[in-house]
Amino acid sequence: MPVLRTIRERFAAERPLDGLTIAACLHVTAETANLVRTLIAGGADVALCASNPLSTQDGVAAALVAEHGAEVHARRGEDVDTYVSHIAAIVDRGPQLTMDDGADVISFLHARGGPALDAVIGGTEDTTSGAIRVHALEEEGRLAFPVLALARARVSQLVETRHGTGQSALDGILRATNTLLAGRTLAVYGYGPCGQGIARRAQGLGAAVVVCEVDPVRALEARLDGYTVLPGVEAAARSDVLVTATGASDVVADEHVAVMRDGAILANAGHFDVEISVGALRAAATASRQARPLVEQFDLSGGRRVNLLAEGRVVNLAAAEGHPAPVMDIAFAVEALAIAHLADAATTLEPALHEVPAAISDEVARLALTAVGVEIDHLSDEQRRYLTSWA
Ligand code: ADE
Repeated sequence: MPVLRTIRERFAAERPLDGLTIAACLHVTAETANLVRTLIAGGADVALCASNPLSTQDGVAAALVAEHGAEVHARRGEDVDTYVSHIAAIVDRGPQLTMDDGADVISFLHARGGPALDAVIGGTEDTTSGAIRVHALEEEGRLAFPVLALARARVSQLVETRHGTGQSALDGILRATNTLLAGRTLAVYGYGPCGQGIARRAQGLGAAVVVCEVDPVRALEARLDGYTVLPGVEAAARSDVLVTATGASDVVADEHVAVMRDGAILANAGHFDVEISVGALRAAATASRQARPLVEQFDLSGGRRVNLLAEGRVVNLAAAEGHPAPVMDIAFAVEALAIAHLADAATTLEPALHEVPAAISDEVARLALTAVGVEIDHLSDEQRRYLTSWA
C-alpha cells in the first residue's frame, strides 16, 4: 500500500493527530491494519471494533494489539450482543474523532447522547449506506458533529466503489460457488457506482447482464451502456445470478422468490444485510441445507432450489477478502487525509454531512499515479486563464 505508506511517513514527521483518540468501526482486515498504523504514526490513540461480524480477520486483530499498540474489540463471527458491546467499548474511550463503515458508531453515539457525544468533534463515514443514515440524522436536526462522506470523493467513487466492489463482489460469488459466469444471465439490482462495476466485470466474464434500477437517469445510462433493463421481478424470473447493490431494503422479496429459477444464486453486495429478504426465502422454503460453506440452499415450490450466499451479508467481505490492497490503499489514503483535515478544521465545519475536500481526492490520485510511475500533464497558465474566463 505505497500511497498509505507515503502518508504514514508524512504523519510520523508532522503528527497531525497528536493527543486525539479515534474510535474506528471498520472491517478488521490487513488493509485496515495499515490504516490504523498510519493513524498511530500520526499521534492518535486508536480503539478499533468491527463493522461486520463476518469480515474480521482474527490474526490481524491480534497483531494490531500485540505489535502496534492499538486497542481492538473484534472477533470473527461475534454475535449481535458482542458486536454492540464492542461498539460501546470504543465509545467508552471518549473519542474526539470517529471513523465508520456503516455509521454504527455515529448511530450509537447519537442514540446514547451525553458527554461522549459532546466530546466528538468530527467523523468520517466510508459507505454510501452509512451516509444515508447520517443524512437522516441531519434531516432530523440531530446530527451533533460534522461528518465527511468518503464514498463521495471522486477518487473513491472511481477506485473503491466501481473497481473495488466490481471485482470483489464477483470474487466472493465465485469463491463461494465455483460457478461459471460465461453464458449465464446475471441481474444487478442498482446501477450506482457499485452496480456499474459489477455489471462491467460480469460482462467481461461472459455473462449476459440485466440491470434493475428505480432512478430513470441511471436506468437510461444502463440501457445506453448496452445492458438489458428490466423490472426486478422479471429479471428474477430470467436470471441465474441475482446481485443486489442498492442500499435499500427488501430489494429481493416474496414476489422475486416466487419466480426465481432452479439453481439461482442470490448475493448481496450492499453494506447491510437487508437487501435480500431472507425471511421471504425461509417462509417460502420447504427445506434448506448448507450446500457449501457460505451457501445455504432453499427448496422452493415446483422442485426449485435457490442458493443464498453468506446469509445475505455483504458478499465481497463475507465470502472473499473485500477490496484488494491496491484499492484500499487509495480508499484509506483518503480516509487518513480526511481525518487529519477534521483534526485541523472540524471546529470550523457545521454539524452536517460534508464532501471530502477536492484537494484530498486529487492529492491521493496524484500519489497513486506516482506510485506506479505514471506522469501526467499540467495546464499552462494560459490554459488556466482561458478555462476560468467568462469572456
Ligand atoms: N471494505 C471493503 N474492502 C475492505 C478491506 N479489504 N478492508 C477494509 N475495509 C474494506
